[in-house]
Amino acid sequence: MNDLISMVLSVIFAVMLSGCGNTQPATDKAEQYDHTVTTEQKQTTQSKKDTVTEDRKAVSDTVKADNTNSDNSDTLIVYFSRTGNTEKIAAHLTELTGADTYVITAAVPYTDEDIEYNNDNCRANKEQNDKSIRPEIVDKLSSIDDYDTIFLGYPIWWGEEPRIIDTFLESYDFSEKTVIPFCTSGSSGIETSERNIAELTDIGELVKGKRFAAGASKEDVKEWYDMLPIGNKSNENKITLSVNGNTLSVTLADTDAAKELSQKLKDGAVTVDLKEYGGFEKVGALPWSLTTSDENTETKPGDIMLYQGDQITIFYGSNTWSYTKLGTIDDVTADELEKLLSGKNITVTLS
Ligand SMILES: Cc1cc2nc3c(=O)[nH]c(=O)nc-3n(C[C@H](O)[C@H](O)[C@H](O)COP(=O)(O)O)c2cc1C
Repeated sequence: MNDLISMVLSVIFAVMLSGCGNTQPATDKAEQYDHTVTTEQKQTTQSKKDTVTEDRKAVSDTVKADNTNSDNSDTLIVYFSRTGNTEKIAAHLTELTGADTYVITAAVPYTDEDIEYNNDNCRANKEQNDKSIRPEIVDKLSSIDDYDTIFLGYPIWWGEEPRIIDTFLESYDFSEKTVIPFCTSGSSGIETSERNIAELTDIGELVKGKRFAAGASKEDVKEWYDMLPIGNKSNENKITLSVNGNTLSVTLADTDAAKELSQKLKDGAVTVDLKEYGGFEKVGALPWSLTTSDENTETKPGDIMLYQGDQITIFYGSNTWSYTKLGTIDDVTADELEKLLSGKNITVTLS
């Protein structure tokens, strides 16, 4: 990497830190950043020791995890994480998918000094400066034959994937695999690493990846995962409902109205003003009419119904009336819904 890029990235780090309200001199800022890293590392190292060996054993023995979603048995989540941020995103992804996990571990572990990025001569900087370096991986996967889809997670180091990711990519044949990168960073995007990965090796399909902030929530990861155009997971029967900054996934019903709704949302998101009604639902006008197939229905919290052909109703309680079913909000309790939809009038976005 040339000195100019180093300088620009150093400035970005300094700006990131000052953006947190930090007014210390530059050197102290760097120390504080590193302290954060070290603390996180300490917190995650033990749990890694406890779980990583098991994960690795499960994968290297090609014994698949006890997947909560058997549809993802052909999916592997691979990650490298030095200070635990990427590991947290990978953990969310594992919970969401039930997929197997493999942790990339350096044969020579990266010490705190190794990632002291303010020191030009630290190991990480030297590796990032030399695109030919391939740090050795310990406890390598014997094969990735059992998997079709591979999520690949890493931190951004100097705008790129760490060189150990290149080692991993050059260790297997990805020509018939779907690879989905994800990363964490202070602020840099994932794009340069995606270009590098595409150039490095032949990949069947490289799906557009995602950069997460260190503290991204499971909901953030789910929102991304739900929209991915991959594998056995069909997004055809899913839409997203955003309300007061919360994004909920909705499973569509098997009705013409639901299919028409899904189709219309492909042209763009729709925002609807909803009014309180009856202490059990919110109701508002859609911009179009949908085909009705009304049935007398006892609704439950989370149900989304079409009323009179052009009104959408979202239930946080129950009512019995003639409706056409549009869908049901996933993974939400009646209490959570009531809190979320409380207030007289609200605005929701369907996408
Ligand atoms: C050597 C080094 C270089 C880094 N370079 C960048 C960078 O170019 N851009 C950025 O936004 N963050 C950069 N970071 C911050 C990391 O990307 C960020 O802390 C990441 O979440 C760490 O992930 P991990 O905890 O999984 O190791 C760098 C960190 C280190 C140690």
